[in-house]
Amino acid sequence: LRTAILISGRGSNMDALIAAARAPDFPAEIVLVLSNRADAPGLAKAKAAGVAVAAVDHKIYAGREEFERSLQLVLETHRIDFICLAGFMRLFTPWFINQWRGRMLNIHPALLPSYRGLHTHERALADGVKIHGCTAHFVVPEMDEGPIVAQAAVPVLDGDTPETLGARVLSQEHVIYPLALRLAASGAVRIEGNRVLGALPAC
Ligand code: GRF
Repeated sequence: LRTAILISGRGSNMDALIAAARAPDFPAEIVLVLSNRADAPGLAKAKAAGVAVAAVDHKIYAGREEFERSLQLVLETHRIDFICLAGFMRLFTPWFINQWRGRMLNIHPALLPSYRGLHTHERALADGVKIHGCTAHFVVPEMDEGPIVAQAAVPVLDGDTPETLGARVLSQEHVIYPLALRLAASGAVRIEGNRVLGALPAC
């Protein structure tokens, strides 16, 4: 499957996906990294890894749909079959999401359905939860919802800060996101309603 990774920032999940997809038996090929920011540090890393890169600056478009039509054109030009969102900090309209229903994954730094949205590590620490983690899921029009493909749990330790906890979660993101892409791209999992059937258990 010709796969694009959409990023806005540093792209550490992007790195993990590119590295995993180098395995000869991996069912997806990363052929494009696309950003809404031309200065996203991840773009330079993707280029250095030999992956085609493109930037579509959302700020030059009158609205979300115009921006998305431009994204869609780039994706079509590169004959993309599958999308991985990896720290892509724009919300999509239902129009865009419905084009990619069942063909777009996201990685979220919390155990959904807990802690949707931003600042997940701060909020988990403030609540005093003992277990936190990350979720790879298919994208649906509702933010941070959608059928879950893989999750990993990490302990919250005494003295954790958002940074230390975030780093512990991030290292698990790098494990489950490639796994989720492998499962989705190989057809080992399928969506039924709001669930994924055939997924592996939580890590
Ligand atoms: C990760 O925490 C991911 O869960 C969230 O955005 C962050 C992206 O980090 N969606 P990176 O750019 O992959 O390093």
